[in-house]
Amino acid sequence: MTEHHRVAIVTGGSRGIGRAVALRLARDGHTVHLVYREAADEAAEAVEEITAAGGRARAHRADVADEAAVDALVDDVAEQDGGIHVLVNNAAVIDDRLLLGTRTAGWERVLRTNLTGPFLTSRAVLPVMLDQGWGRIVNISSNSVRIPGPGQTAYAASKGGLEAFTRALAAEVGHKGVRVNTVAPGKVRTDMTTAVADLLGGDGAGTRWGVPEDISGIVGFLVGDEADYIQGQTITVDGGRLVMRDRAGRGRAS
Ligand SMILES: NC(=O)c1ccc[n+]([C@@H]2O[C@H](COP(=O)([O-])OP(=O)(O)OC[C@H]3O[C@@H](n4cnc5c(N)ncnc54)[C@H](OP(=O)(O)O)[C@@H]3O)[C@@H](O)[C@H]2O)c1
Repeated sequence: MTEHHRVAIVTGGSRGIGRAVALRLARDGHTVHLVYREAADEAAEAVEEITAAGGRARAHRADVADEAAVDALVDDVAEQDGGIHVLVNNAAVIDDRLLLGTRTAGWERVLRTNLTGPFLTSRAVLPVMLDQGWGRIVNISSNSVRIPGPGQTAYAASKGGLEAFTRALAAEVGHKGVRVNTVAPGKVRTDMTTAVADLLGGDGAGTRWGVPEDISGIVGFLVGDEADYIQGQTITVDGGRLVMRDRAGRGRAS
C-alpha cells in the first residue's frame, strides 16, 4: 500500500498541535479528516491551507465525547473514502484546579474528553483497520503524567489512563497489523498554554517552548511504514525537560 492513498482522522485538527499534525499528514499524501468541536472558522482555514497546497482534507464537527457523533463520523469517512488507516487522538481539554476545588462535573468532562474520547474513536475505527490488516493509532498524552503541576489531577489522570490504554490496546491488536503508540509532548505554545506561557514570561533562558511542528514530525513518522516495529510505546517530545529535571531536580530543559 502506498502512503499516498491513506486516510487519516485527526481529532482536534482545527488548532494547535492537531492542526500541525493534519498539515503534516496531508503533505505526506494522506487524505485528512480533521475533527473539531467549536472552532469552525479555524477548521475551515486548515482545510483551505491543505487544499491550496494540493492536499485533500475535510473538516467534521463532532464532539469526541459523544458516542453517536463519533460512530457517525467514522461511518461517514469509511463510506466516503473506503478505508481508515490512521487515527490521531489529539483532542483534549484542560481544566486545572486544585483537587479540593474540583467539581465532579469538571473531573468527568476532562476524563470524558481526554480518555473516553480516544476509547470511542479507537473502537469505531478498529473494525475498518482490522479488515485492512493495517492501521496506526497515535494518542497524544502529556509530560504531566510524569511531572504534573499542582491542579492537574484530572488532566494527569486522563493522560496516564491514555498511556495505559495505548499499551493494553497495542497488546490486543498488534498481531493484526495495527500499531498503537503515544506521543507525550512537553510544553508547546498553543491556545491551550498561551495563558500560562505568558504568565511564565514565555521562552526563558534555556527553556524553549515547543511549537506544534516539534510534535507533528514524530506523529508523521509513527504513522508511516518505517515505524512498523514500534508498538505500545510512549515517546516523550519535550526538548529534554524530563531528563534535565531528573538530573537537576528541577524543570530545566533545552
Ligand atoms: N500545548 C501543550 O503544551 C501540550 C502539552 C502536552 C500535551 N498536550 C496535548 O496535545 C494535544 C493538543 O493540545 P493543544 O495544545 O494543541 O490544544 P488546543 O490548542 O487547546 O486545541 C485543542 C483541540 O482539540 C479540539 N477539541 C477539544 N475538545 C474537543 C472535543 N470534545 N471534541 C472534538 N474536538 C475537541 C479543539 O477543537 P475546537 O477548536 O473546535 O475547540 C482543538 O482543535 C492535547 O491532547 C493536549 O492535551 C499539549
